[in-house]
Amino acid sequence: MNELLKNIKPERPEPILLKHKPYSVNKKTDRKKVAEKLLSGSYALVEDKFPTGLAVLAELKKTLFGKKSKEDFKAYREKRTEYHHASNNLLVPIRKNKIALPKAPETGWLEKLYPDISDFYLSFPQVQGLNSAWQWYIRGIKYPGLKKKLYPWYGTYFPTRYDHLISFDKWLKNYSGRKSTAIDMGTGCGVLAFKLLNRGFEKVIAADINPNAVISVMENAEKLGLAGRLDVRQSDLFEHCDEKADLIVFNPPWLPAQQDVSGLDSAIYYESGLFERFFEQAGNYLYENGTLLLLFSNLARTAGIGDTHPVEEELEKHNRYRKVRLIKRKVSKPSRKTKRRDHRKDEYVELWELALI
Ligand SMILES: C[S@@+](CC[C@H](N)C(=O)[O-])C[C@H]1O[C@@H](n2cnc3c(N)ncnc32)[C@H](O)[C@@H]1O
Repeated sequence: MNELLKNIKPERPEPILLKHKPYSVNKKTDRKKVAEKLLSGSYALVEDKFPTGLAVLAELKKTLFGKKSKEDFKAYREKRTEYHHASNNLLVPIRKNKIALPKAPETGWLEKLYPDISDFYLSFPQVQGLNSAWQWYIRGIKYPGLKKKLYPWYGTYFPTRYDHLISFDKWLKNYSGRKSTAIDMGTGCGVLAFKLLNRGFEKVIAADINPNAVISVMENAEKLGLAGRLDVRQSDLFEHCDEKADLIVFNPPWLPAQQDVSGLDSAIYYESGLFERFFEQAGNYLYENGTLLLLFSNLARTAGIGDTHPVEEELEKHNRYRKVRLIKRKVSKPSRKTKRRDHRKDEYVELWELALI
């Protein structure tokens, strides 16, 4: 791991340290009582084995949601929030950076993310999140257009649907501009940056505000022997960029945030002002004949979350960029197994190619 990585502190679930031992739970404890405790805001600690915790969470769900009932969306959302708070009061003991319960899954993140502390508590949902991220990390993900798998770090966004990647691949294959430097803004797991390198860009600057993404891309670049051509930076937009590029690519969050966003949510939801700042800054980092490429979607519109479209708004309000082309691609049909909600059926991904005016 290089020097840059050593100085970046990844986001992690905050270790829970308690002065007093919380209410103890084992398989014989009355689960209804535990569920009540959790709902009242008290901590409870699973002490015998991991499956006991899973059984308590199942009981908590039953207490809150009961049998399937026809509730309105608002009531359902409130219950979900309640479940979120209560389930995070159920604690797992961590000793010597391992889950100190029999029959618990192995998660290497406890060593990687907590070099400074070995004994502490985490909540059950946090441990489940770490575990699922560990599975993705050790198995890796194969993306269309990339020969080798990527291994995303904990807390790093990686796409699980590929429509925008297919659009990007097609566009990139036909790109005939200069390939000296590209900037991949909001690189996430680095999938677009690695595609740019594969397609012959001499150097790619991969920037992300999320420290975990930066560590992730750097580690993958080293694994792939591409670290020499990939310059990874933790940066709020172009804050830490200092050179111009032939191509700037940005696959931003697609949905307007309804509340403050942090961590992985900032891959999905954008706060007001993000696009205004992006368009204001991007022109300074683009060569005169350079290309600005945005991947976007009509998801906010089809999901009824908002009618504004940040790229359209930029083109209407300002005189900084012109549209070279807009390529739309209908989102592929859901597999029969997935019950995709209705608003997804009219969804398409958009590829906006812009140039400086
Ligand atoms: C939808 S993800 C795209 C990730 C990846 N490029 C891809 O196509 O799969 C958006 C990314 O933008 C990053 N991001 C959000 N706000 C940012 C900001 N202000 N500056 C830099 N990156 C940001 C997020 O952390 C996330 O990794």
